[in-house]
Amino acid sequence: MESIAKAEQMEPRLNCQKVLPTRSVPSLLDDVKQGLLQVPRRLPAKYFYDEHGSQLFDKICDTHEYYPTRTEDSLLENAAEDIIKHCQPAHLVELGSGTSRKTRRLFDACEKHDHQVKYWPFDVCEEMVKKASESLVDEYHWLDVNGLVGDYNAGLKHLPELPGRSLYVFLGGTIGNFAHDEGVAFLSELRQSMSADDMLLMGADRIKDEGILNSAYNDKEGITAAFNLNLLNVLNKEVEADFDSEKFKHHAFFNQDESQIEMHLIATEQQTVKLQALETEILFEEGDSILTEISRKFTQTSLSNMLKEAGFALTKHFSPENNYFSLVLASPEA
Ligand code: SAH
Ligand code: AVI
Repeated sequence: MESIAKAEQMEPRLNCQKVLPTRSVPSLLDDVKQGLLQVPRRLPAKYFYDEHGSQLFDKICDTHEYYPTRTEDSLLENAAEDIIKHCQPAHLVELGSGTSRKTRRLFDACEKHDHQVKYWPFDVCEEMVKKASESLVDEYHWLDVNGLVGDYNAGLKHLPELPGRSLYVFLGGTIGNFAHDEGVAFLSELRQSMSADDMLLMGADRIKDEGILNSAYNDKEGITAAFNLNLLNVLNKEVEADFDSEKFKHHAFFNQDESQIEMHLIATEQQTVKLQALETEILFEEGDSILTEISRKFTQTSLSNMLKEAGFALTKHFSPENNYFSLVLASPEA
């Protein structure tokens, strides 16, 4: 790596910029009006990720029950060299990068093969992008990190134009947090913004024993519950609401018919919640629910069908012996 390190010493290696929306997306106030003030009540999962929510997600990843992170990490550890050798990317653009914890496996492989790459972590949580970027330039002295802050649902046209091949990385099974049609639309849009020789590396969680799925979203320490309930703090801050998180409980279960985990917040008693920014209030009866997240689980077939529908051809598929998780490398179809 010495040659790369020397070349990079002259340049600033850390940048952060906002990604402007390509189209307008509903604001939190719009989503509250359209989702929370209607029955069935629901909110988009992206609002989980304020700074505290992002930290809680990172803690979920370390719980004994939440197998996706360690499973995907071990897949990446084994496949990273293969991926880097096959793809030879000039840029690594990660969607929903969070702490970039597993992406380090790809940087390790680059380092081992003296392969230079620039990293573009893209996330809605600005604090997380900045923190992760700072850690990465410290850990990898040869790496350029250009943080991108924005909402990937607002379009990808304003992502920087990058010369050479980009490897788009979408880890964690976050594609499962999109409904089927939204996921296909998102991947199609990504495909349209990709050059013919760019590639996509995506993780997706697989259908498995219901008990294992349910435990992963109901860890004993209560971290997933805290992550879910933190959404009420986000609403208190952003919509000047007065939710009392003691009066709601976390409820997560695998919906077999839909092949998805559903996370809800359930009112534990009758209550009225004020939303000052909207000059309105909501009456919750005991047992009323807010759907806060879906997390879809795939079979190998449903995963490859979704990629095909979005215009991708599957190049490589990595999964462990227990088939708990899939990591796929895909190319835009001609
Ligand atoms: N990829 C990481 C983090 C997954 S958590 C991992 O595998 O561990 C999902 C990440 O997506 C969070 O960091 C969250 O802030 C980000 N995210 C969620 N919705 C987003 C959106 N609409 N636009 C950009 N980032 C988003
Ligand atoms: C980010 N995403 C893939 C996680 C998941 O498993 O759907 C979010 C999460 N929700 C609860 N635990 C983890």
